[in-house]
Amino acid sequence: MSNRTLSIGRKVRSFFGYKTMALYHRAHGENNDDLIDQLKANNVITKARVEQAMRKVDRKNYCSSDPYKDSPSYIGYSVNISAPHMHAVALENLEDKLVPGATCLDVGSGSGYLTACMSLMVAPNGKAYGVEHIKELTEIATKNINKDQPGLLESGRVVLVFGDGRKGLQLNESIQFDAIHVGAAAAEIPQALIDQLKPNGRMIIPVGKEGGEQFLEQIDKLPDGRVERSVKMGVRYVPLTDASLQYDKTKHRWPLVNYLLRKGYFHRRQQNDTKWN
Ligand SMILES: C[S@@+](CC[C@H](N)C(=O)[O-])C[C@H]1O[C@@H](n2cnc3c(N)ncnc32)[C@H](O)[C@@H]1O
Repeated sequence: MSNRTLSIGRKVRSFFGYKTMALYHRAHGENNDDLIDQLKANNVITKARVEQAMRKVDRKNYCSSDPYKDSPSYIGYSVNISAPHMHAVALENLEDKLVPGATCLDVGSGSGYLTACMSLMVAPNGKAYGVEHIKELTEIATKNINKDQPGLLESGRVVLVFGDGRKGLQLNESIQFDAIHVGAAAAEIPQALIDQLKPNGRMIIPVGKEGGEQFLEQIDKLPDGRVERSVKMGVRYVPLTDASLQYDKTKHRWPLVNYLLRKGYFHRRQQNDTKWN
């Protein structure tokens, strides 16, 4: 896009406000296939196995507001389902680790969308774990996945765990993963997650303080156990934090406020703040 087009865009946005901005530059599919077609056309999805997984997992089963728009959407408890382009970026970078038979972990599994995609990529004999620190979100993700991909949870190919993802998956002390995705920004990379990477394993994690500069990083554990870090891009994510800091139940008592939150009203108002995780 030319600088001239960008500057016209900024003027239009400042005149009409945030709603125009949302319409102005976000891809918006008519349905899930259309959204995936647009992500492919923009070279966000380049790998066939990522495309196949994202076509199968219908985003409408994971969020109620604008599921086919390339932006985050509010799912409750002060968080969003991430934007489709960020899910695609994560899967593209993990693709050669998310192979049939692999074991993988989605930290901050939220709506369950990415856990389901990861599980399809490691099928038929691989396993995807999701860890989430808001219990209610694990229940919502269970419903979402059962609706979208019946059998994944029942067969044990997806396992959702309630817990603090900064401590890794605490189900089984010896568990290690071929691939780890972290869906919230860590001020420091948690050592427990590095420890739970297998040799040759890879983690994709946003790193940086809340409100400050954040970068999506790729962490590769080499066969000899050494760790290599590489920066992929600048991002904006909610923090990997304490449940009580993220979500204060007393603020969310009002039914009308909850209704508007579910419909994405406040989220649309916040879009100018570029929380595009
Ligand atoms: C931006 S949301 C993304 C959720 C999910 N990837 C999706 O697209 O639906 C970040 C998620 O991380 C979770 N989270 C934040 N801190 C966490 C922690 N310490 N342990 C586990 N989950 C955490 C939030 O509750 C939220 O579900």
